[in-house]
Amino acid sequence: MTLIPLLTEFEKENISERQALPEKYLGLSDAEMDARISSARAKLGKKLVILGHHYQRDEVIKFADYTGDSFKLARQIAQRPEAEYIVFCGVHFMAESADVLTEPHQKVILPDLAAGCSMADMAAPDQLETCWHELTQMGVNGVVPVTYINSAASIKAFVGERGGTVCTSSNAAATLKWAFERGEKVLFLPDQHLGRNTAYKMGIPLDEMVVWDPNEIYGGLDPDEVTRARMILWKGHCSVHTRFTVQHIDAIRKKHPGVRVIVHPEVPWDVVQAADDSGSTEYIIKTIANSPAGSIWAVGTEVHLVNRLATELAPDRTVLSLEPFGCLCSTMFRVSPNHLLWILEELVDGRVHNQIVVPDDQKSWTRVALDRMLSIQ
Ligand code: 13P
Ligand code: SF4
Repeated sequence: MTLIPLLTEFEKENISERQALPEKYLGLSDAEMDARISSARAKLGKKLVILGHHYQRDEVIKFADYTGDSFKLARQIAQRPEAEYIVFCGVHFMAESADVLTEPHQKVILPDLAAGCSMADMAAPDQLETCWHELTQMGVNGVVPVTYINSAASIKAFVGERGGTVCTSSNAAATLKWAFERGEKVLFLPDQHLGRNTAYKMGIPLDEMVVWDPNEIYGGLDPDEVTRARMILWKGHCSVHTRFTVQHIDAIRKKHPGVRVIVHPEVPWDVVQAADDSGSTEYIIKTIANSPAGSIWAVGTEVHLVNRLATELAPDRTVLSLEPFGCLCSTMFRVSPNHLLWILEELVDGRVHNQIVVPDDQKSWTRVALDRMLSIQ
C-alpha cells in the first residue's frame, strides 16, 4: 500500500510512524472482525475512546463511542480526559486537531495514515506565507485570516498567530461575524465554496468577493480588486461536494415532486441557491430527523451519511442522494474495519501505531486558534 501521495510534505514530516496494514489483517470475514474488534475494545475499557465522523463506513462507525461532524467531535475530545488512547475514525486534519486539544498523556491514533483530505492539501504553509506577504505588498490591510478546520495544523497555527481563527461548517457564519468585528476583510481558506456560501447568506454580495489562486503571483488579482473585496477566498474545494450540480437538483425535482433538497455548504454557490436548505452534516441530520414522517429528501453530501439517514437516522422519510450514484469520500473510506482491528489489537498488547503528533512549535498557536473556534457558536 502506498501512503505517501495523499500526504503533504508537512504531514509526511510529522507522522511519527508509517506502517502498512499487516497481511494477517487482510481477508477476514465481517463476523470475525466484528467479534475481535468488540473483544479488543472491551479489554481496553476506559483507556480507549473511539470517535467517528459521519462520513465513515457503517462497519467502522458502529464501534464509535461518539459520532459527529467536525465541530461536535472537536468538542467531544475534552469530555474524556481519562482515556489514554483516542482512536479517530476520520481524516488526518481531524486527528491533528484532536492531538492539540487533548492532554499530554493522551495519544491520538488515525487507523490509516493515508486517510488525508484533498481539500486540506490545497493550502500549503509556504503558499499562505506568500499570500500574506503579497497582501501586505499590495497595500491590503485589516485582513483577518480564517481557516476551515479542514486544513493542516501548520495553517491553523499561522492563522492563530495572526489574530485569526478556525471555523467548521457548523459555526462558519458566527465565525465570519466574529472576524468582521476585528477587521475589514477576511481571508478564508482553503474552501472557497464554504467561504462564499456563508458570506453570501450573511448579505455580502458576490462582487465583494475575490478568489485568491495560490499558484499565481498576487493570487492572480490586481490590488484594486483586492482592496474593494471584503472576502478573499482561497482557491480550494472539496472534490466530493463539488460533484453536486444544479442539473441534479432539476432532475430530482422532476422525478420526485415535493422533494426537499438539502446540501452541505461545501457545494458550489449555484447549487446552494437551487437547494431548499444547506448546513453542516449535523444540521442535515437534525433537519431531516425532525421533518414530518413521509417527507422526501434529496441530500447533497457524502454517500455514507446519506445512506445512514435513509436506513437508521431518519426512518419513515424517503432519503435519496442528490447525485444518482452517490458521492463517496475515498479518503474517509480508507479507514476500514481491518485497520481498526489491527490498531486495537496492537493497543491491547501495548503497541501504538499511527499516532498523530503535532510538533510542539505549532501546538500553542494551533491551540489558540482551535480554542477561539470552540468559543464561537
Ligand atoms: P462537517 O463535518 O463540518 O460537516 O464537514 C464535512 C466534511 O467535509 C468533513 O471533512
Ligand atoms: Fe476532505 Fe471533502 Fe473528504 Fe471532507 S468530504 S474529508 S472535505 S475530501
